[in-house]
Amino acid sequence: MKSPKPLVEIVATGRYLPDRVLTNFELQKLVDTSDAWIRERTGIRERRIAPPDMGAAEMGARAARIAMDRAWVHPGEIDVIVVATATPDRLLPSTACDLQALLGAGNAAAYDVSAACSGFIYALQAAEGHIAAGRAEIALVVATEKMSGIVDWTDRQTCVLFGDGAGAVVVRKATESSGLLSSYIRSDGNLAELLWRPAGGVRVPMDAAVLDDRSHLVRMAGREVFKSAVRSMAEAADQALMKAGLTSEDIALLIPHQANMRIIEAPAKHTSIPLDKVFVNIDRYGNTSSATIPIALDEALEQGRIRRGDRLHAVAFGAGYTWASAVLRW
Ligand code: UT7
Repeated sequence: MKSPKPLVEIVATGRYLPDRVLTNFELQKLVDTSDAWIRERTGIRERRIAPPDMGAAEMGARAARIAMDRAWVHPGEIDVIVVATATPDRLLPSTACDLQALLGAGNAAAYDVSAACSGFIYALQAAEGHIAAGRAEIALVVATEKMSGIVDWTDRQTCVLFGDGAGAVVVRKATESSGLLSSYIRSDGNLAELLWRPAGGVRVPMDAAVLDDRSHLVRMAGREVFKSAVRSMAEAADQALMKAGLTSEDIALLIPHQANMRIIEAPAKHTSIPLDKVFVNIDRYGNTSSATIPIALDEALEQGRIRRGDRLHAVAFGAGYTWASAVLRW
């Protein structure tokens, strides 16, 4: 089967990681854990933590400015900003609107997408829709997360996993054969309580009892999430490859969501992609939720691991439960 003609392409990328490094050794002082346990079970050595006064919009804006500079795009030229985040600065208005104001992108429509760790691919697909329908010429897709603001720093099962960071891409109409060849998004709300924040919304509003039992923070059924992740990433990987008319042999680089080294290895094994064709940076950043894929894409480009014409395959899963995959020709 021939690959479909792409409707949109990513013309530039950018990332922002806060300077502050939190090592496993420092976490040993906070909770009952060890560097050896975290490394062996997750592959994580350290993660980044944003300063208290920096939110998701500011981190996203820093990544976006780099992508926009590289794309030679001025803020006023952006037609739509789609922000993927599970850690909005405020519940109202959207983080995208705050980010729009920081950038001075006064001609754009801006909104958030809430699909947790799958959010970047959801947002990219939304941007593709705007451009394909002729509603936009230039889209900015940003994935930005301040996970340190929503994890329970007394829960050793979750606090060791996450980190802060942001990635951004500028998307335009594809001109040739490079661009987004396929994408696939799915969700299953029946699995919502595998990974969630039980309180703090309108159904269980924030009050003293919520603060006391910390139910406004992330709760996770780790082993169940692990099993679902392996299953759903395999399905998403197959679907996007099939829609792109490709097989795993055509893929130059697999960019999986960076949640756990053992979960990263699963879609690689499923698609028979050797580990040297899999991008990994979980050791340095941990799980930055929706931001892992655009951060990894930006780093892979910087490291010269992607050449013109290469086919890339991104695969993600996250709270919701959501899962997603995309195949790109660079
Ligand atoms: O983007 C999606 C985000 N979420 C995920 O990707 C999470 C997916 N799940 C995982 O990555 C893994 O399930 C974890 C890393 C969370 C846990 O690894 P595991 O190999 O599934 O461990 P487990 O839950 O089976 O726990 C094994 C033991 C338990 O002790 P006991 O009951 O055997 O005595 C845990 O209490 O490890 C203990 N444990 C820890 N020990 C030291 C759990 N967390 C820690 C810790 N340090 N941080």
